[in-house]
Amino acid sequence: KITPLVPRTRKEIYETLIKGLQRLEYRGYDSAGVAIDGNNNEDKERFIKLVKKRGKVKALEEELYKQDDLDSKTDFETHFGIAHTRWATHGVPSAINSHPQRSDKRNEFVVIHNGIITNYKDLRKFLESKGYEFESETDTETIPKLIKYMYDNRESEDTSFSALVERVIQQLEGAFALVFKSIHYPGEAVATRRGSPLLIGVRSKYKLSTEQVPVLYRTCTHLSWKQEEEQGWQCSCGIFNCFAVTNSDVSCLSCFCFFLCSAIIEHTNRVIFLEDDDIAAVTDGKLSIHRLKRSASDDPSRAIQTLQMELQQIMKGNFSAFMQKEIFEQPESVVNTMRGRVNFESSTVLLGGLKDHLKEIRRCRRLIIIGCGTSYHAAVATRQVLEELTELPVMVELASDFLDRNTPVFRDDVCFFISQSGETADTLMALRYCKERRALTVGITNTVGSSISRETDCGVHINAGPEIGVASTKAYTSQFVSLVMFGLMMSEDRISLQKRRQEIISGLKSLPEMIKEVLSLDEKIHDLALELYKQRSLLVMGRGYNYATCLEGALKIKEITYMHSEGILAGELKHGPLALIDKQMPVIMVIMKDPCFTKCQNALQQVTARQGRPIILCSKEDTESSKFAYKTIELPHTVDCLQGVLSVIPLQLLSFHLAVLRGYDVDFPRNLAKSVTVE
Ligand code: F6R
Repeated sequence: KITPLVPRTRKEIYETLIKGLQRLEYRGYDSAGVAIDGNNNEDKERFIKLVKKRGKVKALEEELYKQDDLDSKTDFETHFGIAHTRWATHGVPSAINSHPQRSDKRNEFVVIHNGIITNYKDLRKFLESKGYEFESETDTETIPKLIKYMYDNRESEDTSFSALVERVIQQLEGAFALVFKSIHYPGEAVATRRGSPLLIGVRSKYKLSTEQVPVLYRTCTHLSWKQEEEQGWQCSCGIFNCFAVTNSDVSCLSCFCFFLCSAIIEHTNRVIFLEDDDIAAVTDGKLSIHRLKRSASDDPSRAIQTLQMELQQIMKGNFSAFMQKEIFEQPESVVNTMRGRVNFESSTVLLGGLKDHLKEIRRCRRLIIIGCGTSYHAAVATRQVLEELTELPVMVELASDFLDRNTPVFRDDVCFFISQSGETADTLMALRYCKERRALTVGITNTVGSSISRETDCGVHINAGPEIGVASTKAYTSQFVSLVMFGLMMSEDRISLQKRRQEIISGLKSLPEMIKEVLSLDEKIHDLALELYKQRSLLVMGRGYNYATCLEGALKIKEITYMHSEGILAGELKHGPLALIDKQMPVIMVIMKDPCFTKCQNALQQVTARQGRPIILCSKEDTESSKFAYKTIELPHTVDCLQGVLSVIPLQLLSFHLAVLRGYDVDFPRNLAKSVTVE
């Protein structure tokens, strides 16, 4: 029998789990929960103790200690605890919606999940027809119930835990990293993933005899599974496994792996990265990894890798501020926004939250998009492509001004409310104003359960993940992508728009890679900040699709660097702003290869003729603009209406570096709050 290295008293188990959750706190979350063995006594009925709490990990910890008699120092022969912090995607933040989710009141199966199950409504309907009663609003709850259903209907008493999990994941669509625990399989846990990353920490008292864990393949029916499992990889020593499930996307695994590992690193730096559809089972300290089927390209083993990471690195990862971390998360957050919605093979887009209202939206008089600050800029950025794809008049409105004007709204208007927090008072009041006038209201928020998401008729959750830095960054690019997806969904049956749609969908597909390329310019942008940080003012100029980039860039600069900054529409240059130009005034010009390129060249001439020294954000292949530039930042070229997702990133980075060089607290700029809940 393998000697476990893990703690054995309930108190020690709690401490290990709570510490792990605390290590993940920097990622942002709204609730937390744990499940551990309730007792371990053969002669008593087994149960799993489940404790969940809305709010901080500290609150969960207090609840655990309140509920439990820790002095009893129960020794556990088998012990496997799971714990999770949740950021709501389906269902409001609450104890009932947090994880672990359970199969039934006896907690026969409990599951933690990161990701999104896109077919959960169908699964829920099926399970309800079989008599299962749901208690939460989450997509996750279908999973423990589905595994219980599989367990109750198993063909053989010998069916293993991993065989059940295998069957469950065959029914799941979407993205997931899952860890299962069950009273029927004490001392055992099974984990699996598809689309969301998952790793296993390996700790051993002795030197391991191998650095590779072979992957087992099921060859015929599940009956042969057991046999294979018995041949599974066994190390000759104790092995400590803990699964860390995270929200990070696999596409960013290499750059973000320290996020993934933060819950594990104090126990071990030896890890195995699971691949999609791997099923890892830990039984009495032995690890085995299975796959459903073998494909020619499969690696027949999973290597145990050593993490190059120190504990102190992990709070904000390698980043010095949440804002910086969030800027660098964008390759991942835009993928999460599109996940399960854009089908790149069939070139279709489905926003589940809008599909029942599509007919009504297509028949409407006009679209009105309302927001404040950065969220308003996302509306400005996408207005043109929405006009093109929906063939409807599109108004974009600052919520406060919209209300000040008592803007006429009609019942055949469709009003969109864009808000990261979902709580901004001006936007919320504009929503109530439009509801009173019977317009259809659509929320685009990053916060499930927020006032705006609750009070709108329908909506889209942008799934950017928690945004903690006061200056909004990844929410902007996800709002942008969400609005473009809406345009694509609206134009699906327009034959004349198919070529354009195809071009945009291809652009969406390559967006994450291109964002990474832009992020690789960070050092160059830092050098630029070194030149600019003592300036008092900074103008940002552009037009067309990139006017919003200028507004948003200037907003980032003013809110965290406290420099004066203005986003200027290049078409308005001659009507006033040109007076500001001289050889001292720093000007950033956004000039992309799009229909406004020639007009932007004119603006460039006007600036250089006044001895202005423009810093130009331009496409890599643009040789013309660079001739007149004091400096250039060259960006990858994408389809015109998506270029703004890329061109805003250098300005986010620039504002960050300027603020750091000026010695300001990037995440908490003076006088500003993350959620503006007052008028
Ligand atoms: C700027 C910023 C603000 C918000 C604005 C609206 O970086 O964060 O301008 O965009 O306060 O907030 P939400 O999107 O939460 O409605």
